[in-house]
Amino acid sequence: MLAVAVLAAGKGTRMCSAHPKVLQPLAGATLVDWVLESCELLNPQRRLLVVGHQAERVQQHVQRRHQQVEFVLQQPQRGTGHSVQQLLQPLGNFSGTLLVLNGDVPLLRSTTLGRLVEHHHRSGSAVTVLTACLEEPKGYGRVFCDERQRVRAVVEDRDCTDEQRRNRLVNGGVYCFHWPAVAAVLPQLKADNQQGELYLTDAVGLLNPATQLTVEDGTEIIGVNDRSQLAACEQVVQQRLRQQWLAAGVSFLDPVSCSLSAGTRFGRDVVVEPQSHFRGSNSIGDGCRIGPGALIEDSQLEADVEVTFSVVRQARLARGSVVGPFAHLRPGAVLGEHCKVGNFVEVKNSRLGPEVKASHLTYLGDAQLGRGVNVGAGTITANFDGASKHPTTIGEGSSIGANTVLVAPVTLGRDVTIAAGSTITKDVTDDALAIARCRQVQKKAWHKPAAAPHSSSATGGEIEPSSQGQAST
Ligand code: UD1
Ligand code: CA
Repeated sequence: MLAVAVLAAGKGTRMCSAHPKVLQPLAGATLVDWVLESCELLNPQRRLLVVGHQAERVQQHVQRRHQQVEFVLQQPQRGTGHSVQQLLQPLGNFSGTLLVLNGDVPLLRSTTLGRLVEHHHRSGSAVTVLTACLEEPKGYGRVFCDERQRVRAVVEDRDCTDEQRRNRLVNGGVYCFHWPAVAAVLPQLKADNQQGELYLTDAVGLLNPATQLTVEDGTEIIGVNDRSQLAACEQVVQQRLRQQWLAAGVSFLDPVSCSLSAGTRFGRDVVVEPQSHFRGSNSIGDGCRIGPGALIEDSQLEADVEVTFSVVRQARLARGSVVGPFAHLRPGAVLGEHCKVGNFVEVKNSRLGPEVKASHLTYLGDAQLGRGVNVGAGTITANFDGASKHPTTIGEGSSIGANTVLVAPVTLGRDVTIAAGSTITKDVTDDALAIARCRQVQKKAWHKPAAAPHSSSATGGEIEPSSQGQAST
């Protein structure tokens, strides 16, 4: 029987943040999401999360994303040992293995956790600690072993002597405990250390036999205590995600300039040009060409879509659509096959049928456009009357002349033509031409007004009132 407990009650003082540390963002998720996700493959029977600082916020966040998590309150927060003491009651006489993870150690691979549990069971230890040998061990607890590689003690960085600090074997903050064994020593913990806290690491020192497993890739155990460690984690995750997708058939022309989220899926032969960023959950179809300079968030792109220097958020783009440069697709934008949304075009909550073209300087909001509609440069759907939003419907095959304002609510039928410069306030029927602008007036042989003679210094250079305006006609 395996139970997992994640310690997530701490404040995270060194982040200097208004938000709880475990909710800090990492590649589109939060630290605690990554930690909970890392142990999913082990298929634990129970998942416990110790919460304390801003407990409701952490709980709300986790409940929305992870099923079957039991929340345990630690109030006040008196250290990692005190945090695990809170499990004495909910775990009761559980007799299996408890995997304890720090909520701020987000880069662990599932395979590493699997090896730790296996090693623990094979060795029959009371505890197995995951360790790493780091070039820069500063800030981590140091692990001291005897000649048989059994763990004798874990000493916190701030409690170490200078001599002890030279030890580069560090505690990764991940432990496999035989629960009845650790439950028996937890009440013995004392706060006789530099921080005046109850340390879980002291429990390790009280257990026998205590073993350790050293992870080869030290980046796996990076703990996030401050912003620079958070930035280091982000780099590691980004590098891992890029490697994963390069191996799966995605081309990155300048990988380091791009950022990915764990929830982004790519098809084959996708080309990602420099400075392209993916956030949230996206699916990018085969053969898409993204960038340079794209931001894609929570969107679905079918095959062969192109997005250049544009922002795409909560949008759906069917096969062969071309977006940009400099387009903005906002939530609810749905593009049919082979649409073209060009420069300085904004689309919000609008459904464009196949082969619609809106190539320049346009706003489409709360609109439905049928197949093959051509939207002229400078067309605006005036969807907001100051209080509510209203819809615009344009039938298939219609052509909207340049600089048209469509004052919603308004419906245009099929194959309608709107003359350039129109302000359309009434519905237009199928096949009609609508012109809604002032008729042009022409004055033949028009004499331009003569310029006023240059005034003398006596008038101070001012223009005579009578010479200013023109009579209107
Ligand atoms: C801890 C370890 C250290 C190890 C390092 C690895 C201890 C005493 N030290 O140090 O040996 O090298 O992790 O990253 O365990 N938490 C609670 N309740 C509390 C205090 C903390 O739930 O009262 C949670 C925090 O939210 C955090 C985790 O425990 O997720 C670790 O706490 P933190 O204060 O960051 O420990 P470190 O000083 O990093
Ligand atoms: Ca930490």
